[in-house]
Amino acid sequence: MSVLKTINAVKQPRVKLEFLGVKWYSKFVQGEPAGPSVKEVYGPINKRMKKELSEIQTTLSVDRFIDLDRSIGNYFVDPDGNTFLDTYMQIATVPLGYNHPAMLNVFKDQSKLKYIANRTALAMYPPSNWAQHLKRILMSIAPPDMGYICTQMCGACSNEQSFKSVFIWYNRKRNGGRDFTKQEIETSMHNKPPGCPNLAILSFWGAFHGRTTSSLSVTRSKPIHRLGFPLFEHWPAASFPLYKYPLEENVRENKQIDAKCLAEVEDLIQKNEKKGWPVAGIIIEPIQSEGGDNHASPEFMKELQKICKKNTIAFIVDEVQTGCGASGKMWCHEWFELPTPPEVMTYSKKMLAGGYYHTQEMLPDKGFRIFNTWMGDPARLFVLEAVIHVIKEQKLLEHVRKVGDYTLKGLTDIVKEFPNVLHSPRGRGSLIAASCKDDPTRTKILTNMKKKGIIGGSCGPTSIRLRPSLIFEEKHANIFLDIFRQSVKEM
Ligand SMILES: Cc1ncc(COP(=O)(O)O)c(C=O)c1O
Repeated sequence: MSVLKTINAVKQPRVKLEFLGVKWYSKFVQGEPAGPSVKEVYGPINKRMKKELSEIQTTLSVDRFIDLDRSIGNYFVDPDGNTFLDTYMQIATVPLGYNHPAMLNVFKDQSKLKYIANRTALAMYPPSNWAQHLKRILMSIAPPDMGYICTQMCGACSNEQSFKSVFIWYNRKRNGGRDFTKQEIETSMHNKPPGCPNLAILSFWGAFHGRTTSSLSVTRSKPIHRLGFPLFEHWPAASFPLYKYPLEENVRENKQIDAKCLAEVEDLIQKNEKKGWPVAGIIIEPIQSEGGDNHASPEFMKELQKICKKNTIAFIVDEVQTGCGASGKMWCHEWFELPTPPEVMTYSKKMLAGGYYHTQEMLPDKGFRIFNTWMGDPARLFVLEAVIHVIKEQKLLEHVRKVGDYTLKGLTDIVKEFPNVLHSPRGRGSLIAASCKDDPTRTKILTNMKKKGIIGGSCGPTSIRLRPSLIFEEKHANIFLDIFRQSVKEM
């Protein structure tokens, strides 16, 4: 089926989804229930499934199983039939809600099925017309002036590989692109310089960039992610600007915070240079997500980019969590109006697989340097194609901005009502959060919410975050706000 036909299917879905006999209605996905309903938060079927899984796999992080046949749109249904309004959406990964017909229909097209059955090693044997597929899909949403793409599978490996692109670029700048010396070749096998040079990536306290060794070295959100693993000791971390809210009442103070953090970045760059570990790249999230939904100002981002340019350092923007429309623009860093593109922008989550856009300078000069067997997944790419068409067709970016503003306003009113419990409501598009007075309070609110049928997320030391799908509507926001308010009130 062509994508256009798929789009038509969105308006008049042919996919029939039974849903607990509840009447179906929604602007975007047919078949959503009118609201959540919870019988027993952790029901007997869920418990049995967890026990069975724990016989062969750790289940220490498993909250509940999802019934993929009955989950629909913004609603997560578990095997016991509990129905939750999902404002966390599989850790911020579901772009169009569950069982969106446009996504389900992708593989009704027989020619696409072949890409599932015959997965090829993309960097060695790409399928015919691969460039056309990439141009039609990924390059159609490339950030301005970022003309190159490297496809990957997940967020961590996208960051990990992008660091290698940055190091290759940095070495080329340093040594004029000469070939490797005998000494470099020999020392490289012993993890020693000059073959494995002392180069660093600078990140920010509170950052989350993934769990592979380099990505984890720049992840600074929680000790539990890092404890017991050997990491790069000389990779520095600077303070991320943590603003006082409301922003309009704290302009001068927040500007001072920006200036202090930027001075710290410059200082760390100098110190690392002296130490013999020059900084080759700086990685930052447009909104520090896992670390607490910390928003840096556009001015901060512009100044940070200037520091990178001044010191010949690559500017790496991690849009794994903020990309694909979640902020109300396709890429959250577009809000910053940077004068030139970052050298690298990584993505995953709502993009369904991972990868990074980059500038021409970041291309490697030898084969197999930025490489793994799959290098992404064409099947995911075709599902993304449907997602992109729905985003455009349904004007979802505009929709996300509108519903985001509405939700944030409602949340701000609740924060004002409970000033001893909540503070600092903040958001861009669907990326919305508020902080609680402490961690136990947050846990209680989230538990109350779950009992009443809302799946929510936490982030940072005391915050609650929303990561709904792009088809979250005002009517869903009303349900969320009502239950959130009750959950705080009952504290
Ligand atoms: C900003 C950011 N970068 C990277 C990652 C790592 O992505 P993945 O879990 O797909 O490896 C995450 C995951 O939450 C993230 O939020």
